[in-house]
Amino acid sequence: MNRITAGRRHPLARYAVLLFALTLLGGVYTLTAPGNQSADAAIASGKVDDVAEGKKLFEKTCSSCHGPQAQGTENGPTLVGVGAAAVDFQVSSGRMPAANPGAQAPRKPLAPWVTPKRIDQLAAYVQSLGGGPTVPSKEQVDPALGNEAKGGELFRANCISCHNWVGAGGALTEGKYAPNLNEASPTQIYAAMVTGPQAMPVFNDSIITPEQKRDMIAYIVGVREQKDPGGFGLGRIGPVTEGLVAWIVGIGGMALAAIWITAKRRQAK
Ligand code: HEC
Ligand code: HEC
Repeated sequence: MNRITAGRRHPLARYAVLLFALTLLGGVYTLTAPGNQSADAAIASGKVDDVAEGKKLFEKTCSSCHGPQAQGTENGPTLVGVGAAAVDFQVSSGRMPAANPGAQAPRKPLAPWVTPKRIDQLAAYVQSLGGGPTVPSKEQVDPALGNEAKGGELFRANCISCHNWVGAGGALTEGKYAPNLNEASPTQIYAAMVTGPQAMPVFNDSIITPEQKRDMIAYIVGVREQKDPGGFGLGRIGPVTEGLVAWIVGIGGMALAAIWITAKRRQAK
């Protein structure tokens, strides 16, 4: 009898194997568990056409990078023609005012002065400079009015190359990344499509109609609220990880059973 067989017969061997299997399972779960699923409330956007107030705010908080007439400086692009939707998206998600010029501005908590009313004022000012996409109405972005199944198809066709199957996000080249979509409000999702922030392409109304955009919003919001029926989310990337877990747990279970059977028989002799 060699050393390995002796080890297997040790009374503690069974527990050691069990412990190993549990650790493995735990490790696999932590690696694949989905991230924070919190969804922020939709940003109320009552239309306030106050270009003059917006101009004042702009000069105070934005002109250092975008220039006094939003014509652009070396620290920020021109905002003439980007439209109210771009301002609403950038400011309501905390990307603007940017903390430092250059890098992809990340989503961040809003400064206390950033209220829906002030966002509207800034947006109205920028809109007055050269037009561009406007902020969508509440009805245009209401997930309850969209068709989730159709939206899912469009999402898979247009967005998953960067944002992953369920909008969990992913890395792009040159340190840029497509963020996860769990925090974006319906209005922000719409605005992201019509303005194409950073490395994201613009999906204008001739590529994806407003109605299709609403279907996609219904899908993105719906998938985020969906419970994981099997218990574990496994990162929701579908059959690949599920197969992997079935493989590890299944083979592990069979190995345990085999060890248990041989241990029993040897004891019986
Ligand atoms: C520290 C410099 C800085 C400040 C301050 C700043 N921005 Fe920006 N902004 C940038 C840079 C750089 C970009 C381009 C990179 C990006 O989008 O992340 C940008 C992009 C934008 C865009 C997107 C333009 C497009 O083509 O879609 C909007 C809209 C915008 N800023 C609005 C604002 C508003 C409104 C303020 C004031 C509340 C502001 N920014 C303050 C640097 C700044
Ligand atoms: C080429 C890659 C690419 C594709 C394709 C793409 N996106 Fe994006 N998306 C990005 C990047 C990069 C950002 C981050 C921009 C930034 O932070 O300024 C982003 C940001 C977003 C945001 C803002 C997320 C947040 O909460 O701050 C939303 C919403 C979004 N995309 C939706 C979509 C939808 C819907 C589609 C399909 C119609 C799509 N994207 C297709 C790259 C992409």
